Order: sequence, then structure tokens, then C-alpha cells
Amino acid sequence: MSEDLFKNIISHSKEYGFIFPSSEIYDGLSAVYDYGQLGVELKKNIREYWWKSMTLLHENIVGLDAAIFMHPTTWKASGHIDAFNDPLIDNKDSKKRYRADVLIEDHIAKIESKIEKEIEKAAKRFGETFDAAMYRSTNPRVLEYQKKAEEINSRFKTALENNNLTEVKQIIEDCEIVCPISGSRNWTDVRQFNLMFSTQMGSVSEDAGTIYLRPETAQGIFVNFLNVQKTGRMKIPFGIAQTGKAFRNEIVARQFIFRMREFEQMEMQYFVKPGTEMQWYTSWKETRMKWHSSMGFPASKYRFHDHIKLAHYANAACDIEFEFPFGFKELEGIHSRTDFDLKSHEQHSGKKLQYFDPEENKSYVPYVVETSIGLDRMFLALISHAYKTETLEDGSTRDVLSLPAFLAPVKAAILPLVKKDGLPEKASEIMELLKFDHLCQYDEKDSIGKRYRRQDAIGTPFCITVDHDAIDSSSSNYNTVTIRHRDTMQQERVSIDQLPAIVEEKVSIKKMLRSL
Ligand code: GAP
Repeated sequence: MSEDLFKNIISHSKEYGFIFPSSEIYDGLSAVYDYGQLGVELKKNIREYWWKSMTLLHENIVGLDAAIFMHPTTWKASGHIDAFNDPLIDNKDSKKRYRADVLIEDHIAKIESKIEKEIEKAAKRFGETFDAAMYRSTNPRVLEYQKKAEEINSRFKTALENNNLTEVKQIIEDCEIVCPISGSRNWTDVRQFNLMFSTQMGSVSEDAGTIYLRPETAQGIFVNFLNVQKTGRMKIPFGIAQTGKAFRNEIVARQFIFRMREFEQMEMQYFVKPGTEMQWYTSWKETRMKWHSSMGFPASKYRFHDHIKLAHYANAACDIEFEFPFGFKELEGIHSRTDFDLKSHEQHSGKKLQYFDPEENKSYVPYVVETSIGLDRMFLALISHAYKTETLEDGSTRDVLSLPAFLAPVKAAILPLVKKDGLPEKASEIMELLKFDHLCQYDEKDSIGKRYRRQDAIGTPFCITVDHDAIDSSSSNYNTVTIRHRDTMQQERVSIDQLPAIVEEKVSIKKMLRSL
């Protein structure tokens, strides 16, 4: 069911100009996508909402736009050259490459789904008196599955912690995991694979140094920490926000725009006094969850997931997970990164990256709390929650994108009922009234019903229809139009001069920001 839904979302995104496979005329490029005419608008609106929620609502957060290319030592200092790896394994028969950790995690997930199936079956058998928690803790078959999953999990965790790739392969063999393509267990050894893309800078390749396409935007913030602090006269605590492209040579790139090789991040590094980081970590978790909830998702769609195994730079970390059509997955990371990055850049550059605290009368390397969200993942969360196929009273169906109105790519469609009798001219006047504030579409082609469906499918909150009464000075409806609301399909008659206020009320980003 969810798989079908996901396929429909992908084809809908393409059909209506939200997302296209990259260089499609050459059959595409794996895990790289282009945003079409509507996708680019939705993406821009999400980015703007994030940006304003950071820089307008916090006087102590400022922006930055650092270059994608950075001095190569940046990545030595950040740990990405040595430690930004995924364990990979190849199947010798299908010649397909997999992430060894993903194979094992999927295997554990399969065992867990068997537990859920057992519980579902029992719930049907026992009816209302069924106690799921009790069944989970006493049923021998469920307990056996649980034990198996826990054993694999703990073996796997130890293997990763010890960087023991032979043991990772052994787990795959012991679990009898087969290649989904060839069905065979003919595996190579597990190897570490660095996820950074590299290229050469300079025209003579022998002299050129290897440089990397940034795998996260955060390092551009760290290396500019002192530039911004000094020139902006920033006092701790303060934050630097940045949005921009990041690149990762993902081994398993799948699930549409969920895991891409080129994607966009929206990151904010918050520099704090050492010892206060846990308080800021908790506070940023709350602030970010409020931002997510403001977009109208039910609370059940989100959950926090604390990291058990912390990255080398973190003393606390969690993900905000969202329920995508393929299950709960990471949407945003919140990390308490200690002073790891700034200290490491100090060591590698030989330059001090310290803050003089006038209250303490001493200098120190600040600690950092980071919020990091993938713009493409937020896009996918929004579109997959918004996409619905509804059956109407007359038995027909409509595809509708119930996007939050303030994020919708097109805010209003202006539709003359017929393309004659002066209606197009009146509709054009309305376009002129609205177009300086909002992206609007003028459409006079096809029946009005078809035009409504087209706008529903792209998530336009308002359809404004101009009929003969609107231009008939003898009618009581002179200079009025009907405005149709996307979600309810209700129509109301309003005067033309009220339109700017009606539309603005519904699509105002300012109102959303005030609610945060
Ligand atoms: N600076 C911290 C950092 O980069 P991360 O958890 O690796 O942390 C942050 O990435 C966010 O970037 C993720 O929560 C996710 O939304 C997004 N992201 C990471 N890899 C991605 C990929 N391959 N495709 C799309 N989004 C990705």
C-alpha cells in the first residue's frame, strides 16, 4: 500500500513539474534529481521559512554563504578524510554493491516485522481482551525473535565500534543474507568506502591538489566563525545559519530524493559557553520541533531518536524522524558537537579560533550545538504528507496536494469562466492586482472542472473564477468573483477589492513566523 503510494508520489512529482530525474534524456543519473518549475518554488518557500525562522526570529543568529570548495585541510581537520566512510560489500554474482550496515539493519527490520505480524495475528484471535504488551513479553515465538534481533544488533554494534570489518562480513554470512538481485550469498569482503567526491583544482593536473566537494555545509561555518564573530560583534551565545549544496557519494542511493548524491542542507551552528551546551541542546530540540509542528503535521508523524553510538565529535545527538511512506526515517539531526571542530581547525591551521568573553574576562573555544536539516527531505516529507487521492460525492476522484498554503508554489489561479465576452480582460486585471505579492497562474484552457483539478493537483490554495456577473454593471454581483478553497472545495462570492487581503491572510509567512 505504502509502496504504491510512494510510486504515485514520484510520478505525480514528475507529471506536474516538481521533480525530474537529472539529465533524463540520457536515462538519468543515479540519485541525482532536478527541481522543475513548481518544485523550485516549493523548495524556495521551505528554505525561506527556515531562513527567516533562524535569522529574523533570533537577533543573535546571522547568515553566511560559504563556498562549496574549501581548502583540503578542512576535511582532514573535520575528520571526514579519515572517518567519513560506509562499509560496503559486493555480490560477486549480481555485481551489485551494498552498504553492509544496511543489509544487516534490513535483516533486523525483517525480524522485527515478523514480531509485529505475530502480534497482529494474536490480536485478531483474542479480540478486545488482547494485551499486546503482555503478549510481547511472554509469547515464546516473539521472545525468540526478539532475542535473535538483539543478538545481531549487539554483535553488529561491537563490530562497528571496533572497526572489525571481518566480523561485519561474518554477521552477513551467519544471518544467511542473500543478494536481492542474484539471490546468492557469494559476497566479497567488506571494505570501507569514503563518501566524499574529489576533484582537481588548477589547469595542470600533476600540480593540482585534490579538493573535495563539501559533504556538509557546517565546515564553512566553522572556518568563518571568527570572521563573523569579529565583524558582526557577536556575543556568545550566537548562531550562524547557512543553506547550500552538499555532496556525498552514497553507496545505496534510493528512495527518490530521500538519499541523494547532491542535496541541499540547512544548517545552523550555535556557539555557546562550555558547560551550557546541554541546556542549549534541549532548547534547540524544542525550537526545531515547534518549527516542524507549525506546518500542520500531526504529532504522530514525528519522533525523536537519540543516537546510541555518538559520532567522534558529539557528546549528545538525536534525529528528528518523520514517518515517510517507507517508515520513520531521519529528517533532521540535532548535535552537541562540543569544541571538536573549532579546536581541530586551530590545530591544523595554527590560528586561534577563540572568543574573548568579557563577562568571564578570559578566552575560550566555544562549544557548538548544531541543527541540520536536509531541504530535499523536508520537501519529500511535505509532499508525501500532502498528496491524496480523494473520492468525491459523484464517485469521481481528484488528486490533491494539501500543502500548507504559505508554502504552496502557486498561491492563486485566476480563471475566466469562458475565454470571450470580456472575461479574460477582467481576469487579467485580477492578475495585475495579485501578481506583485504572490505567484499566480492565469488559465483559460479547458472546462472549469478540469482547471480546478489541475490546480488541486499542484496544491494551489485558491481558485478565483471570473463569470459574467463580475463584468455586468447591472448585476448585484458586479465586480465580485467566486473564490474556491482547495481543501474543502467550498466556494464563496467576494468582491474583487477584497482579494488581496483574503489571499494574504491565508498565505502569509509572517503569520506563520509569529506563531513560532
Ligand atoms: N552537519 C551535520 C550533518 O551533516 P547529517 O546527519 O549527516 O549531519 C544532516 O546530515 C541532514 O542532511 C540529514 O538529517 C538529512 O536530512 C540530510 N541528508 C544527509 N545525507 C543526505 C542525502 N544523501 N540526501 C539527502 N539528504 C541528506
